[in-house]
Amino acid sequence: MERFVRGLPKTELHIHIEGTLEPEMMFEMGERNGVELPFGSVDEVRAAYEFDDLQSFLDIYYQAAAVLQTEDDFARLMAAYLEKAESDGVRHAEIFFDPQTHTERGIDIGTVIRGLVQGRQEVAEVSSTLILCFLRHLPPRSAVEVFEQARPYLDHIQGVGLDSGELGNPPELFAEAYRLAVEAGLRPVAHAGEEAPAEYVWSALDVLGVERIDHGVRAGDDPALVDRLVREQIPLTMCPLSNQKLQVFPDLADHSLKELMDAGVLVTVNSDDPSYFGGYIGDNYLGIAAALDLTRQDLIQLARNSVTASFLPEDRKAALQREITDYVGSVS
Ligand code: HPA
Ligand code: ZN
Repeated sequence: MERFVRGLPKTELHIHIEGTLEPEMMFEMGERNGVELPFGSVDEVRAAYEFDDLQSFLDIYYQAAAVLQTEDDFARLMAAYLEKAESDGVRHAEIFFDPQTHTERGIDIGTVIRGLVQGRQEVAEVSSTLILCFLRHLPPRSAVEVFEQARPYLDHIQGVGLDSGELGNPPELFAEAYRLAVEAGLRPVAHAGEEAPAEYVWSALDVLGVERIDHGVRAGDDPALVDRLVREQIPLTMCPLSNQKLQVFPDLADHSLKELMDAGVLVTVNSDDPSYFGGYIGDNYLGIAAALDLTRQDLIQLARNSVTASFLPEDRKAALQREITDYVGSVS
């Protein structure tokens, strides 16, 4: 099973580049850049990764991101992620980055984007694009400002997203920033229905006009919403190990993935913040398969969904679907 999953061609659509910062790299960059960390050792960092909820994770996550200072730091981070993704069968990744996490502490957005682009170019085996995310705990005006700062770099950015603390920060607050981004040609997605209820998914769809919902695990609470997701084939980018670590589903056996998939929702499996949540995308496929008794056929369907739900052009999607067919034929 493990070999089958890691070899299965797939895409990754919900991955925060800042969430791939491994403790070893955190220490190395912290030392080199003279940034003090609130931890004494790599082991101490790992021991601190016990989270009560989304916010308790975000508090550590934003602190740790302070070690990222130079263009080369962002390039190393990106290249390391893409190499890991390649070993998990990822052929294409659509990668979130949070520019405000960096601009708020005085790093130029150009340093961030040029570094990430450099890292992408170093690992050409996996194709990739960037999705600029707004931090929803900051004022909507800050989102508009950071989008304006990103304008000179839009050739490198395919999508716009919304992340950070969800409760009390509903999608509709960011309507203006999304309008500007969509007018500029970016494909809209948003985190919704992770900790907050299904209403946030509705407003992400109706007010922001998103094409995919990130997480969306709470959608199952609302049958009318499930009907819509099925009818319009709106993908959900789910991240099982994240949901477990952040106590959304403390027991993975309770996860809504299989129920929604069986209802006809276009569900995908992804890793979110793999260095914090105990595993990369292959571990997420294996973890949810074990918890929900997924069949090999289910796993193949999830990989096919990841291709369908991507922003790749139709010819590349067709080529990847053929690659999945060939892979399944070669191992059975
Ligand atoms: N939810 C919201 N914001 C985030 C997440 C998440 O799972 N990961 C990184 N930023
Ligand atoms: Zn996320």
